[in-house]
Amino acid sequence: MCGIVGYIGKRDSQDILIEGLKKLEYRGYDSAGIAVFTANGLEISKSKGRLAVLEDKLRDEPLAGSVGIGHTRWATHGKPSDVNSHPHTDNSAKFSVVHNGIVENYLDLKDELTAKGHVFVSETDTEVISHLVADEYDGNIVEAVQRAVKRMRGAFALGVLTEFEPEKLVAVRFASPLVIGIGEGENFIGSDIPAILEHTRNVYILNDGEMAVLTRDGVELMTTEGEFISKEIYHVDWDLVTAEKAGFDHFMLKEIYEQPKAYRDTMLGRIADDGKSVDLKELTMDADYIKSIRKVHIVACGTAYHAGMVGKTVIESLARIPVETDVASEYRYRSPIITPDTLVIVVSQSGETADTLAALREAKRNGARVLAITNVVGSSVAREADDVLVTWAGPEIAVASTKAYTSQLIAFYLFGLHLAGVLGTKAEAEVAALISAMHELPEQVEAILEQSAVLKQVAESISSHKNLFFIGRGVDYAVAQEGSLKLKEISYIHSEAYAAGELKHGTLALIEDNIPVIALVTQEELYEKTLSNIKEVKARGAHVLGIANAGSEVEVSKSVDELFAIPKTLPLLSPALSVVPLQLISYYASLALGHDVDKPRNLAKSVTVE
Ligand code: AGP
Repeated sequence: MCGIVGYIGKRDSQDILIEGLKKLEYRGYDSAGIAVFTANGLEISKSKGRLAVLEDKLRDEPLAGSVGIGHTRWATHGKPSDVNSHPHTDNSAKFSVVHNGIVENYLDLKDELTAKGHVFVSETDTEVISHLVADEYDGNIVEAVQRAVKRMRGAFALGVLTEFEPEKLVAVRFASPLVIGIGEGENFIGSDIPAILEHTRNVYILNDGEMAVLTRDGVELMTTEGEFISKEIYHVDWDLVTAEKAGFDHFMLKEIYEQPKAYRDTMLGRIADDGKSVDLKELTMDADYIKSIRKVHIVACGTAYHAGMVGKTVIESLARIPVETDVASEYRYRSPIITPDTLVIVVSQSGETADTLAALREAKRNGARVLAITNVVGSSVAREADDVLVTWAGPEIAVASTKAYTSQLIAFYLFGLHLAGVLGTKAEAEVAALISAMHELPEQVEAILEQSAVLKQVAESISSHKNLFFIGRGVDYAVAQEGSLKLKEISYIHSEAYAAGELKHGTLALIEDNIPVIALVTQEELYEKTLSNIKEVKARGAHVLGIANAGSEVEVSKSVDELFAIPKTLPLLSPALSVVPLQLISYYASLALGHDVDKPRNLAKSVTVE
């Protein structure tokens, strides 16, 4: 994910910016750059690749000056390349901008500015901001930024410089984090605390709609409406390693807590303002093609495959197109029947998984169109697919996938609704109800996270067991699979996920006294059936934790030993909530057993071998 650092002071800024960016490397990036006021004016140096590439460039042509901004880019709009890297500038090269986030209406703004004579060189949304600020400028950079921001929709954090006012560094926060570091005779901006921690522990944490104007000697805080505000200074007492994890003990926990944001970001700009339809403008497949799809294959590995299992139900129920799911390592060896009217959807957080990539190539070889759902814009999967639906989860560092999985679910909901809109397979009211329920998901996840202490207790009691079962029906079964994988990979406790109705065909023999069973019971139509299956395991001595919807506690609690209620949502959306307690149980079980949560044994984050 992109990183921002900025400096205004008396020291040379180049090294401060580069060192600050290095502290943000853990977030992932594909290019980097800095802009500095030098004796020649505002100069920019940027390049695709690791920071070392930029450092080499700067070694040959250093940028000397004591005011500057820097950025590590994680490609969103436009591939990783020198020209798409930040900082961006306008045609006069007098303004420079670094940006984290997404400007939703950048195409409209770009058209408008192009008509006024602005010429764009990159594919990014950020370049539009530098032109917009230049266009709004009439002698006051703060007011120009305020006017520009008023015209922008989306989520963004900005650092802005102009050669016309070289004594100012302007920073803005709008739904994308930004902190201001307070020094003596120098001040800083950073998208994250680690970027500036080496220089100061005193920070202002900006809220949405707030901005700061930094000079060497002070920081003025105001809203983007221009109203001056004051803020308490926050003293950071974390060390660097904790700061990288934003105060969380592990990346996995941080990423679990980032899910509400990941949901919001993945939905951003993809739902019509009236909340009645989904429009995935980034897809090149047109209505005629969508109408010609006869079947869908969803292919992926591990957690991404589990998201695909939910995706199957989503597409079949919203678009009424038959869907097959395949584990990618099996797909090409089973001679799948792929025809030109097959849409193959590959799902991959990293976009680099060898088996998924091979499946994609197999699909294309057979004439199918491929849609990639991925979290990494410039990845191999994204480059080779015909269409890409990006999950805006931000880089996922923990090996155990959490926010990437739930963002994949959101992508499937959006795609299913997009198909339904084109095919007319769902009534407008039903689509609107689903969209409205999707908007509630982030807050509902937050409500689950608030109950983490209860789940910690559950995890601690589970951690003394050697075996465990997850059961569920319908999409609950798909979530059970993911819950089981999560627990196995980081706690090393053996578990199995079973379709609740299938237990009695063999597995029931393994149920013995006190064995923990986690039963997902979120599908109202299937309540009675699942409750009967719970009774089957209880009768054989199992200790059952039920995960059920709020409102059904009374009914479900009669059949289980413990109950964890999740906020009520529409049945199709429940995986986006019910998986969260399972993630937390796995996390706390791993912690209780003293394992390396973020780097479990034998596993790699990206599996680039077959
Ligand atoms: C998830 O927790 C796993 N670490 C793993 O199953 C992962 O989802 C799988 O390897 C696929 O990775 P990808 O999404 O990057 O393709």
